[in-house]
Amino acid sequence: MKTIILPAYNSNIIRAMLSLRIEEKDIPKPGSNQVLIKIEAAPCNPSDIAFIRGMYNIKKTLPCVLGFEGSGIVVDAGNDVQHFLGKRVSCFAQNDSNGTWAEYFIAEANNCIIIKENMEIDQAACFSINPFTAYGLLDIAKQMHTNGIIQNAASGQIGFFIQSMAKKENIKIINIVRKDEHIELLKKRGEEYVLNSQSDDFEEQLTKLAYKINAVTAFDAVGGEITGQIINAMPSGSKAILYGGLSGKPVSDISTLEIIFKDKTLTGFYLNEWVREIGKKRFNEISLILQNKIINGEIRTEIQGRFKLEDVVKAIRQYITNMSKGKILFKL
Ligand SMILES: NC(=O)c1ccc[n+]([C@@H]2O[C@H](COP(=O)([O-])OP(=O)(O)OC[C@H]3O[C@@H](n4cnc5c(N)ncnc54)[C@H](OP(=O)(O)O)[C@@H]3O)[C@@H](O)[C@H]2O)c1
Repeated sequence: MKTIILPAYNSNIIRAMLSLRIEEKDIPKPGSNQVLIKIEAAPCNPSDIAFIRGMYNIKKTLPCVLGFEGSGIVVDAGNDVQHFLGKRVSCFAQNDSNGTWAEYFIAEANNCIIIKENMEIDQAACFSINPFTAYGLLDIAKQMHTNGIIQNAASGQIGFFIQSMAKKENIKIINIVRKDEHIELLKKRGEEYVLNSQSDDFEEQLTKLAYKINAVTAFDAVGGEITGQIINAMPSGSKAILYGGLSGKPVSDISTLEIIFKDKTLTGFYLNEWVREIGKKRFNEISLILQNKIINGEIRTEIQGRFKLEDVVKAIRQYITNMSKGKILFKL
């Protein structure tokens, strides 16, 4: 089978990208609780980029096959999970030996979601991570009885999902982007509040709006100084949830006084941990809710390009130069 191999981590993404190679490997055999998936489509996510750069919380024995997420058909299954045979699944794995940027992929059956027949293959490929992350974050906000949210990276796919789902709950959002063209984009999608983090009066505008809509929850995918700017702008008792590190910088600029005297908190969100906390039964219920939302068009992952494995450098280059345009997919 054809695979994309990362030979060594390199914090310089261009050098790391150029070092990737295509390698033929033997098709693996599944263990008793595992399935062998013939991959149909696999996306590139920010976590793949961070992993390639050696800046993710998961490190593998190198060289390794890349790719954490994908979808395909189960063509072989271990003794205990035979009922998966022939099913289309969305899969997710971060274990050492294999990755989804390959023609075949071994997954723990437990980490596979059997996909409804009428969901598009490309949507199934991007199903296991982002829709659940958006749902989980919003669930936390709902538990806090939040009427207003601040979110950055708002023109990314999780940003879009949160916008669509929050509308149904009558939760208002202050969206933060970093380019004017994305202000236009979000306004066209019906968003009322969109700020550019690069504008001179950003912090002033953010504070004004945060108090106006009582934005007591924030979803931060960026880290660095914007985390401090967001927390400082929020009303008393607010909670900021850090779920991504797109800036690659440590969190900074948080006002000590705002934390002490206005009882503000900063916490983290990690999908794997949230999935463990909610349990299998609730996960399956949410999976059906999300699949239906995708099938009826309420939410969808934007795809900006489809590539062969051989075009990996071109594919990643296109993605990292315009992440807001959507995911790139490897189509097998
Ligand atoms: N904690 C978890 O369990 C979990 C699960 C899933 C995803 N995530 C994280 O969620 C975040 C969003 O993922 P996604 O799939 O929605 O991303 P995506 O669709 O690939 O889009 C990324 C978005 O982030 C923006 N962005 C990139 N670098 C930025 C920076 N330095 N400062 C500000 N904005 C920046 C991009 O805007 P431009 O077009 O301006 O570059 C783009 O709109 C990522 O950090 C990802 O790792 C976390």
